Amino acid sequence: MLTAGSTFYSSMQNMVWGFQDIIKKSNYSYEYVKFMNYPAAMVVGDRKLKKSDKHTIEFKNVCFSYPSSNVRVLDNVYITISAGEHLSVVGLNGAGKTTFIKLLCRLYDVDSGDILLDGINIKKFEYDEYMNTIAVVFQDFKLLSFSAKKNIVLDKDEKDENVNKLLELVGLGEKMKSLPKGIDTPIFKQFEKEGIEMSGGEQQKLAIARALYKNSPIVILDEPTAALDPIAEYEIYRQFETLVGGKTAIYISHRLSSCKFCDRIAVFSEGTIKELGTHDELVIMPNGVYAEMFEAQAQYYK
Ligand SMILES: Nc1ncnc2c1ncn2[C@@H]1O[C@H](COP(=O)(O)OP(=O)(O)O)[C@@H](O)[C@H]1O
Ligand SMILES: [Mg+2]
Repeated sequence: MLTAGSTFYSSMQNMVWGFQDIIKKSNYSYEYVKFMNYPAAMVVGDRKLKKSDKHTIEFKNVCFSYPSSNVRVLDNVYITISAGEHLSVVGLNGAGKTTFIKLLCRLYDVDSGDILLDGINIKKFEYDEYMNTIAVVFQDFKLLSFSAKKNIVLDKDEKDENVNKLLELVGLGEKMKSLPKGIDTPIFKQFEKEGIEMSGGEQQKLAIARALYKNSPIVILDEPTAALDPIAEYEIYRQFETLVGGKTAIYISHRLSSCKFCDRIAVFSEGTIKELGTHDELVIMPNGVYAEMFEAQAQYYK
């Protein structure tokens, strides 16, 4: 009788706690629903993109400050990247290189000036269609705690054979073969005991495979954050270069890793493009930023 009473008592207590918990959590969901119902502040158009595998990108006097900051991070950026050109973007940390890409990817909109794709303001394009033309590996890319394959194809159905080919191309072929479950091996141990931890370089390669799988006509590689040494970084960029072919490509680094094989180099400094030209042109510029960087890093790239 006593046991029944105490069981009843504790069940009632659990029920009350349960209710309290539901009320507490529903407050969160209220905030979530409120947030999801905010109207999008972003301007988007309905223009379709012309089906072409080559696109010209233009920045015209682009100025930008991050919201709630009055520091001008990009100041009058002006550049035309021709269809099929491979551009290397270099500059010290904080020069504005990543911001330049964020604007191109519509993560923010310019304060003034224009960004054009094939002569048309990027705000005029249908958002999804525009985003499909760009494949980017950001500095702070994230892999998901899924299998290697899922990290590449995401929700698409794809033959293993094609995924394996791609992994081969980015230099992860051997690694995948060495794993008992191959491309179905989970990444990270967070959810799966048999998950694997990949090195910074391997993660970078997997992120590159994902970008290549997207098969977009514009590809962008922002510098690897992992503590890759200059030679490893150079190798990754070089490998990427052979895969990109005739597409429009932008490589970003605070090192000169990608300058050697690119058509032109844009040197960012204090939010603006200070120098633009080929390696041969820039390296002989008197008091040039590039020339100075090259001098300092020459041991790696000569
Ligand atoms: N989300 C942000 N909010 C405010 N300032 C930022 C933000 N992201 C970057 N910045 C600032 O903008 C400047 C340029 O940053 P970034 O474009 O990342 O440079 P880079 O890629 O050349 O190292 C830096 O001074 C940085 O501190
Ligand atoms: Mg950056």
